[in-house]
Amino acid sequence: MRILGIETSCDETAAAIVENGKTILSNIVSSQIKLHKKYGGIVPEVAARAHLESIIFIIDRAFKKAGLYPKNIDRIAVTRGPGLISSLMIGCDTAKSLSLAWNKPLVGINHLEGHIYACWLKGNQKEIKFPALCLIVSGGHTELILMKNHGKYKEIGSTRDDAAGEAFDKVAKLLGLKYPGGPIVSKLAEKGDPRKIDLPRPMLSQNPEREETYDFSFAGLKTAVLEKLRDRKSKPHWKFIYDICASFQLAVIDVLIKKTICAAKEYKAKTILATGGVAANKLLRKTLKKTIKKRMPGILCLMPDAKLCTDNAAKIAAAAFFHTQKKGFDSWKTLEINPNLKIKTN
Ligand code: KG4
Ligand code: ZN
Repeated sequence: MRILGIETSCDETAAAIVENGKTILSNIVSSQIKLHKKYGGIVPEVAARAHLESIIFIIDRAFKKAGLYPKNIDRIAVTRGPGLISSLMIGCDTAKSLSLAWNKPLVGINHLEGHIYACWLKGNQKEIKFPALCLIVSGGHTELILMKNHGKYKEIGSTRDDAAGEAFDKVAKLLGLKYPGGPIVSKLAEKGDPRKIDLPRPMLSQNPEREETYDFSFAGLKTAVLEKLRDRKSKPHWKFIYDICASFQLAVIDVLIKKTICAAKEYKAKTILATGGVAANKLLRKTLKKTIKKRMPGILCLMPDAKLCTDNAAKIAAAAFFHTQKKGFDSWKTLEINPNLKIKTN
């Protein structure tokens, strides 16, 4: 079963061909970072135009890289939400046109479900046991989802304001660093002392074993960074920037890991998954693995390869493979985008 995946929900134009939900035959991602850098964040109108200009070229490259033709694929999968409305429209309308022209079944995929299924892609050959607890940490989302089986989810917690990746991006902006903030803040953090600047751990309980809520809040942490910057009389020198990056990164990671472990224990998870752009963070990956080994020995911890954590279309094709085994198809006549699509709890 070969599926063509298409992803345009935000600022990446991506197409991929995946076999049986795990083997990547091609995975092409065209990032618009350079376009948005000068604005310090994503401009929806600019993003949609760039998707429109490149989508057909990217799909064509995905076929060429895989050495395949449209007749060799079985289905087309496309992200239908959540995301920017004008960006989603480009991907969905392209997928609908191709579905009609090539007479291939069409599947609309939830972008967040895609992030989860990135864990099934090659490289992760170990068997994922259910229930699995998924930490999805990206630029738009911070969610703890209990996955009882394929396509069966329960939302346990989510962010009440800024997502973790958004907080990285906003802190980078405060420090005069470039967009996206995550990679650069984590790079500078390597040279800093994470205990040097005292920052809050928002919505974290004092009890080491329990959490009252699995919701997150990162807006206050960003404001705390702003206050530390304001407290300084002179322009911050590099040592201060390294220390603030390290202290901020550790504050985010402390919160993410403690809540994930407490939720995994409470819901008796057999696997812990972490995915989304922020799960590419080296310190988060290392600390999560180490903490699970110590506090929940025997529990499998899986994360996609760092480059599959950020947005791509292979994860959309992987999700479609498992999705259509249970739920069937959409059609070019009925598929609808939903910028606020949630993971269905059932
Ligand atoms: O999953 P993704 O590509 O797009 C969304 O669905 O939002 O995630 C992008 C987010 C950005 O906010 C970016 O700053 C963050 O992931 N990110 C990181 C790292 N790499 C990307 N955050 C922390 N550390 C990283 N190494
Ligand atoms: Zn994403």
